[in-house]
Amino acid sequence: MRRKLIAGNWKMNGLLADGVELARALSNLAAGEAPNCDLLVFPPATLLMTVGGVLSSGPIALGGQDCHGEAGGAHTGDIAADMLADLGCSHVIVGHSERRADHGESDSEVKAKGQAALAAGLTPIVCVGESLEEREAGRALTVVANQLRGSLPEGGSPVVAYEPVWAIGTGKSATPEDVAEVHAELRRVLGEMRGAAAAAETLLLYGGSVKPANAAELLGLEDVDGALVGGASLKADDFWGIARACP
Ligand code: PGA
Repeated sequence: MRRKLIAGNWKMNGLLADGVELARALSNLAAGEAPNCDLLVFPPATLLMTVGGVLSSGPIALGGQDCHGEAGGAHTGDIAADMLADLGCSHVIVGHSERRADHGESDSEVKAKGQAALAAGLTPIVCVGESLEEREAGRALTVVANQLRGSLPEGGSPVVAYEPVWAIGTGKSATPEDVAEVHAELRRVLGEMRGAAAAAETLLLYGGSVKPANAAELLGLEDVDGALVGGASLKADDFWGIARACP
């Protein structure tokens, strides 16, 4: 039985005081009520230590937004997976479409990052998703399947997030039918890659304009095991509203 996971990606938002305020608000909500899911936040790297301190005694886990594909060395500005683990992170996002677009990350680089995460004892959340142009050309399933084949690390228990690029930060979520179709395809490809048992255990998250108003419908789909939430994760009540929508 896969327990749902609701993960909040804060992206490049928040100074120290904002991070503390948001983490305290989440921590207070968690003290009052246990939603039917695991909870995870990805603050910017500058806030990991502080936010980790605020969340340390509660149920909300901590993750990094990216890591390097190598274990260490001369890579100015980058962060190694074991540095994240050292700060108490359990997860790291790899291959987010914003990283793929802003930094030209290829599938093989994303795979190396996921492999580095596993080696450091972290669970990578491997993101895949088609552009609007690819969807309109009828290629969404092929694109995400190829990204998954190229980006998924070997071994461990990675999480996969389907995030259609056109739905991220646009307020325009994919329809439940589209999400169901892509998630079924991802599970089928996972079966080819890792075998049926591993595919059945793998968490498949949906991301792209998830909010309290559409969460119940998306999280109610058979192959949707949680959500990767951007904008709505910056407001404690909205993030909580999504967590509460887990069936
Ligand atoms: P969004 O972002 O919820 O703001 O669309 C999702 C994501 O990029 O993970």
